[in-house]
Amino acid sequence: MDTTTAIARFDEVRADTERLAAPLSPEDQTVQSMPDVSPTKWHRAHVTWFFETFVLAENEAGFTPFQDQYWFLFNSYYEQVGPRYARPMRGVISRPGAYEVGDYRRNVDDRIRDLLDRVDEGTFAKLAPTIELGFHHEQQHQELLLMDIKHVLSLNPLQPTYAGRPVAGDGTDRLGWVDIDGGLVEIGSEGGGFCFDNELPRHQQWLEPYRLADRLITNGEWLEFMADGGYRRPELWLSDGWARVNAEGWEAPFYWRQTDGVWFEHTLHGTTPLDPGLPVCHLSHYEADAYATWAGKRLPTEAEWEHAAWTYEVTGNLADRDSFHPRAAGPATGGLRQLFGDCWEWTSSAYLPYPGFHPAAGAIGEYNGKFMSNQMVLRGGCALTPPGHTRASYRNFFPPGARWPVTGLRLADDGRRA
Ligand SMILES: [Fe+2]
Repeated sequence: MDTTTAIARFDEVRADTERLAAPLSPEDQTVQSMPDVSPTKWHRAHVTWFFETFVLAENEAGFTPFQDQYWFLFNSYYEQVGPRYARPMRGVISRPGAYEVGDYRRNVDDRIRDLLDRVDEGTFAKLAPTIELGFHHEQQHQELLLMDIKHVLSLNPLQPTYAGRPVAGDGTDRLGWVDIDGGLVEIGSEGGGFCFDNELPRHQQWLEPYRLADRLITNGEWLEFMADGGYRRPELWLSDGWARVNAEGWEAPFYWRQTDGVWFEHTLHGTTPLDPGLPVCHLSHYEADAYATWAGKRLPTEAEWEHAAWTYEVTGNLADRDSFHPRAAGPATGGLRQLFGDCWEWTSSAYLPYPGFHPAAGAIGEYNGKFMSNQMVLRGGCALTPPGHTRASYRNFFPPGARWPVTGLRLADDGRRA
């Protein structure tokens, strides 16, 4: 990457964020509907803060923050940068407003471009990895922005829509299976392109022979699980999951609502009758695991998923397809469908460091490593993931009870030795 490419890429990523926020009013952009959700304008400001803190502060001559208090308001979790405003309280920050956040963005945009215009080759070489991390960080927040506004709008009785258009499922497809040999395999980033530090180092894993379902589980299949008492049978559930079922009254996936005996699903394009042919989504890890137990199968490990995914092109129903919702798998191919896009796929793997993992020095090392506790790995990307922001080695992670991300499941099973 040279400076011209960096400026072009910077402009593109920054414009993508503003395009996603554009359908939302300043009032929409201010709401925090639960502690896990951040207001849209906070996302827009925080990704700007990231460039200001990690690129400008250390490299701009005579640097001063755009606004002293923004340093405090828009730091997400970087202890080494300083104190932060409480995350669950982000929704009470009415000022700066959405337009003032726009001013902040434009100011930092100008200063980044100016820096990249003037920087010498040696400094740029040192700066480039952080700039590139900033692009991918902003893309992560583009997905979070959509996930979060979906929850915000779900609580509004006016049932507002954001964008996107539904694509009906075909509903005729039978679940198939793909056998995979296993053996001594390698997982982790191969290099040659951007990756987060948690995808490294590439290392060996031993896999017994296994099978993966050739597509995601559908709403129709989930209805069968529910009809068979799926949410009422403790023997199907992990202990922590059963506790959540009872404590929170789970009876169906997160955005399902029943009216006069008919199931509806909240989506970014409004509340629609449940389509049995589409992938089931907004499941916790506990729900995905309970379904797999009910089906006499299991979830894949992250190594099984990644080893199988390496031979497939990274393409699918991502956030450029304009549906902003999972689509049906389409006709059987004999191979794995829906690996990339549609729904993040829960694995049975705890989010842990790979052998030899070392986070970067300084505050930027807090990006991934410190979350390697009490979270599960998800793979593949979803319909809200920006194109270019997923790959075979990409490790997403959420606590097992999380239901507001676009999460689904693919079944796995033990294979037979040849
Ligand atoms: Fe962030």
